[in-house]
Amino acid sequence: MNKIKSAFFCSSCGTQHSKWAGRCTSCGEWNTIVEEVIVVDKSKKGFQSDQKTKPILLSEVVAEENFRLDSKNQEFNRVLGGGIVPGSIILLGGEPGIGKSTLMLQLALKMNHQKILYVSGEESNQQIKMRADRLKHQNNSLYLFAETNTQSIFQQLENLNPDILIVDSIQTITTPYIDSSAGSISQVRESAAELHRFAKQKNIPVIIIGHITKDGSIAGPKILEHMVDVVLQFEGERNHGYRILRSIKSRFGSTAEIGIYEMESYGLREVSNPSEILISHRDESTSGVAIAANLEGVRTLMIETQALVSPAVYGTPQRSTTGFDQRRLNMLLAVLEKRCGFRLGAKDVFLNITGGIKVDDPAIDLAIVASILSSNEDIAISPNCCFAAEVGLSGEIRPVAKVEQRIAEAQKLGYHRIFISKYNMKGINNSSTGIKVIPISKIEEMLPELFGE
Ligand code: TYD
Ligand code: MG
Repeated sequence: MNKIKSAFFCSSCGTQHSKWAGRCTSCGEWNTIVEEVIVVDKSKKGFQSDQKTKPILLSEVVAEENFRLDSKNQEFNRVLGGGIVPGSIILLGGEPGIGKSTLMLQLALKMNHQKILYVSGEESNQQIKMRADRLKHQNNSLYLFAETNTQSIFQQLENLNPDILIVDSIQTITTPYIDSSAGSISQVRESAAELHRFAKQKNIPVIIIGHITKDGSIAGPKILEHMVDVVLQFEGERNHGYRILRSIKSRFGSTAEIGIYEMESYGLREVSNPSEILISHRDESTSGVAIAANLEGVRTLMIETQALVSPAVYGTPQRSTTGFDQRRLNMLLAVLEKRCGFRLGAKDVFLNITGGIKVDDPAIDLAIVASILSSNEDIAISPNCCFAAEVGLSGEIRPVAKVEQRIAEAQKLGYHRIFISKYNMKGINNSSTGIKVIPISKIEEMLPELFGE
């Protein structure tokens, strides 16, 4: 008989503890340890392969390096670095209702040259059929399976032998060998481990959908992210039509690529010309607005900075910022005053980072300086221009980290010009990129380029 026991898991990193504690000793997070009832049946565990694997010499491994399955979706291929690698395990995260199931079903419908098994623990076959009808695609080799038990899934996989497995979602899947509820840390971890073993042994790609918690991480332990080969994130404002697919981790390609989609009434449309997103709300050029190519964690975000510079009404000029360190603004204003000769001492300066984001990355400096100058001179900066550089105390433009990634994102989003530090130009071939990279070493050098167009 199975012995019922409980264990304590950290909901942040997934570490198992023998007793409850206020702080996880592994990741250092507070208040993340929760108790879960588990029954582990040690006699058999997870996916069992009849094929015995044995160690093999590296030189004897036949590398099928260039073989990737074409997902028939250009944006998805791009994010994956060319297509789906056989035997890879891909985690697709996103908030509820963002379109993860739609994207996966659409992918499955389009890949009609492959045999696909779509396992759904969230929707019934009828619901998926209704969605497929809405997407207006047909695939005669797409199998649906509304099941949550990993063992039944593996059994069907043996019979069906599909080319791709899609699991929607990991939080609904349970393994019979652990007796805690679906979505709990131990269940998510163990089910994912079984799927992982399956993918590696059968060399079949597995795409797992995962929900995201409020703070933006994939619900369930962090260990899930370590286990999989690729972590994709699907994000966007629910009220706006645009969705961005990002790769947060990739063992087979770069994480600098993003895919852009638009949610329409018949599914997700691939947006191949991303500047169309910007044109809609950046039509009219107003002064005091500049775009920064900023890094947030591992991701690049294009951030809009807005400045308003006006003559001070009261004796002491006001300085006010939202989303940016006020002391740093004072420093930048002092640099503009002392090094570049702009008379800003008698002016009010208001600075706003739009979207309610707080910015730490110093690469936003140049965009802030540009927006202040633009408002001061009342000349608009072209909306297809962006910035990524730090400004030093002597007015010098300093290099920033991962400039290639910022340039790639800016290009992908349809910008035509990016201002970076001259010292960041190493290894950047201006002619090979579709965006004009403008290297500068001093703020003054930026002015003719900025307002010249
Ligand atoms: P869904 O894929 O169910 O989200 P997730 O799996 O990430 O929870 O997407 C649901 C939303 O997408 C829903 O609000 C309706 C919208 N939608 C469209 O706008 N057009 C469509 O063709 C489809 C299928 C969904
Ligand atoms: Mg869904």
